[in-house]
Amino acid sequence: MTTDSNKVARTRVLTGITTTGTPHLGNYVGAIRPTVQASLNPATQGFYFLADYHALIKCDEPARIQRSTLEIAASWIAAGLDPERVMFYRQSDIPEIPELTWFLTCVTGKGVLNRAHAYKASVDKNNAAGNDPDADVSAGLFMYPVLMGADILMFKAHKVPVGRDQIQHIEMARDMASSFNHLYGEHLVLPEAVVEESVALLPGLDGRKMSKSYDNTIPLFSSSAQLKKLISGIVTDSRAPGVAKDTEGSALFQIYQAFASAQETTTLAKAYADGIGWGDAKQILFERIDREVAPMRAQYEELINNPAKVDAILLKGAAKARELATPLIKELRHAVGLRSLASHGDAQVSAKASRVAVPSFKQYREKDGQFYFKLVDPQGTVLLQSLGFNSPKDAGLAIAQLQQVDAKAMTDLGTQIGLGEGVKLAEVAAALEALRTELAEKAKAKG
Ligand code: TRP
Repeated sequence: MTTDSNKVARTRVLTGITTTGTPHLGNYVGAIRPTVQASLNPATQGFYFLADYHALIKCDEPARIQRSTLEIAASWIAAGLDPERVMFYRQSDIPEIPELTWFLTCVTGKGVLNRAHAYKASVDKNNAAGNDPDADVSAGLFMYPVLMGADILMFKAHKVPVGRDQIQHIEMARDMASSFNHLYGEHLVLPEAVVEESVALLPGLDGRKMSKSYDNTIPLFSSSAQLKKLISGIVTDSRAPGVAKDTEGSALFQIYQAFASAQETTTLAKAYADGIGWGDAKQILFERIDREVAPMRAQYEELINNPAKVDAILLKGAAKARELATPLIKELRHAVGLRSLASHGDAQVSAKASRVAVPSFKQYREKDGQFYFKLVDPQGTVLLQSLGFNSPKDAGLAIAQLQQVDAKAMTDLGTQIGLGEGVKLAEVAAALEALRTELAEKAKAKG
């Protein structure tokens, strides 16, 4: 096997980091460290980018966007991300992304965006305050999921590691890809969210989750002296030295645990039970974190002091990424009809003609959090509607099963996989037959 075909087979893992803040220990433990680790897996190809277009939705301070971009890029590299090995780029260096955003905008239902959590939260807040529902909501916030869909679909990502709050966005990206493919042919890959359950959620200085919005963070790269000072400010209870301490609910202990080995953690737990003083415990925590961060600090400082060097790294990454983005956007432009007036585009016309003739399955998610599908005929009539499934995978499995059955087996299966009442089995059978023929023809044409 050649290196090239190895590349093709690799799973593409993609994630974006919004450039509005300074990386803190919570970002390091929850995202940077595990991602750098995962980027070493030879079976995957990593795409990591600075989501600076997304940053504009939340932040109107140009200097902060610029500074944050520099700090985040320098942090990731200092923490071991190898820009030669992965795709590491700045979103705004890829002009194909806003172009794809528009294509996706045109295949995304406005109603779908109305249901996006972040937008809905703003509307709910306005309603509660008796304001206009859309007060202070920019169209940028409303379009956030589409821009994110473009980030993902642009590079045909298979897996997207995200926090729980982002799962809905990945599902929307899937829907955008399948709508686009349905209309224009199989161009886009349907991505999957990966939620890392085991990653530690780090408490901040006040014991709540470490987060910029709580102003309780410890920057990943402060000087040793600053780090020590900040750690001395972590909340503790008022128990005196000599009195046994609880590890449970101790922010200091939880932070320590995120850096220490199991053995080190056991040792500190014992020291808690033996009544270690808070000052000593903080010293131990400081030393442990500093031991991990110190070796990276020099490179971080070097990059921060040479922003042109970081620019060059990011531009090189963007050039590499655009080797994929440029041909894809060219293909998509052609597919949607933005193409030379002299080109015939016959293939597309016939793809469209055959599309009109066959029914299709549509998968979607409802407000109840369940996953559904329906079978829709070419005129848009719903032939059947599933009940809810717990995961998109289960729904997909049911569709796959359904595609196998003939009319006779249908009734049994119908009950088994949760078809609603009033399904016209004959019509469904005919639709499935048409689908099967289409698939067989496609396979023949391909191979
Ligand atoms: N919305 C993500 C966040 O706030 C950042 C992001 C932008 C992203 N585009 C992305 C994450 C694409 C994954 C894939 O965390």
